[in-house]
Amino acid sequence: MIPIVAATPAAAAAKDVRHYLRPGTLQLPALPPLSLYVHLPRCLKKCPYCDFNSHEQPAELPESRYVDALVADVEAALPPVWGRQIHSIFIGGGTPSLFSPDAIARLLSDVRARLKLTADCEITLEANPGTFEKDRFKAFRGAGVTRLSVGVQSFNDMHLRALGRVHDGAQAIAAVEEAALSFETFNIDLMYALPGQTLEQLEADVTQAMSLMPPHLSIYHLTIEPNTYFAKFPPTIPHEDWRTRCSTASPK
Ligand SMILES: C[S@@+](CC[C@H](N)C(=O)[O-])C[C@H]1O[C@@H](n2cnc3c(N)ncnc32)[C@H](O)[C@@H]1O
Ligand code: SF4
Repeated sequence: MIPIVAATPAAAAAKDVRHYLRPGTLQLPALPPLSLYVHLPRCLKKCPYCDFNSHEQPAELPESRYVDALVADVEAALPPVWGRQIHSIFIGGGTPSLFSPDAIARLLSDVRARLKLTADCEITLEANPGTFEKDRFKAFRGAGVTRLSVGVQSFNDMHLRALGRVHDGAQAIAAVEEAALSFETFNIDLMYALPGQTLEQLEADVTQAMSLMPPHLSIYHLTIEPNTYFAKFPPTIPHEDWRTRCSTASPK
C-alpha cells in the first residue's frame, strides 16, 4: 500500500495520482497483493441456462486426483508470482460444495504451503442450496472457508423448476440460514426476468432475500446464452418493457 503523507485525504489522493502519472518507471514500494481463482467444474445436473464450464458429475468422482491436478497447476504458475501475497481466494464452479470438506481442506493447505496468504485472506466457496451441501457448511468453515456464496436464484418453487434447479425455496432459506450461522460473511445469488416471472414475484424474491440479511446480494438478469438448452428451446421470458420498468423502478 502507498503510505498517505499529505495532510488531507483529497490532497493525499491528488498526490497519489501525480505519483502514478509522472514520467519514467512506476515505483511501487511493494507489488500489490493477488487473488486466486480455483475452478471446480462438477454439478449434480446441468441447468438449462448455464454456459459455465460445468459438467454433470460422473458416478465415480476422482476428487483427490482433481485436487492433485489443481495443486500442480498452482506450482506451474509460481515463478511469475513468487513472493507476492494472496489476499483473496474464490473457489467457484460448477458446484464446489459437491467436493468433500476434506478435499477442500487439502486443497487449501496445499495452496497455503506454496503461496503467502495474508492473515485476513478471504476464502469464498460457491455452494448450491441442496440439503446434502447444507449439512457440510460447518465442515467447510473448519476446512478454512470464510465466506459462502449461495446460489439461490429464486425462492419461488415454480421458477426454480423452470430453471431446472435441484432445490426448492424452503431448502434455499434453510441453506442461507445455515450459511449465516456457519460463516463470517456470505452472499446470495438471485436471478431475475425468469420464465413467467411477474414484477410482484421478483419483489417477493428480493424481499425474502433481504429478510435473511445477507452482507452481499448479487442479482443477475437471466441471459439466454448460446449453446445452452434455453438457446435451443427458448422459454417465454418477460417482455423488454417489464425489464425496462424493473431497472428503473424505485423500491417501495
Ligand atoms: C458459477 S454460477 C453458479 C454457482 C452455483 N453452481 C449455482 O448454480 O448456484 C454463479 C452465478 O451466475 C449466475 N448465472 C449463471 N448463469 C446465468 C445466466 N445464464 N444468466 C444470468 N445469471 C446466470 C447465477 O446466479 C449463479 O448463481
Ligand atoms: S448454474 Fe450452477 S448448478 Fe447449474 S449447471 Fe451452472 S454451475 Fe452447475
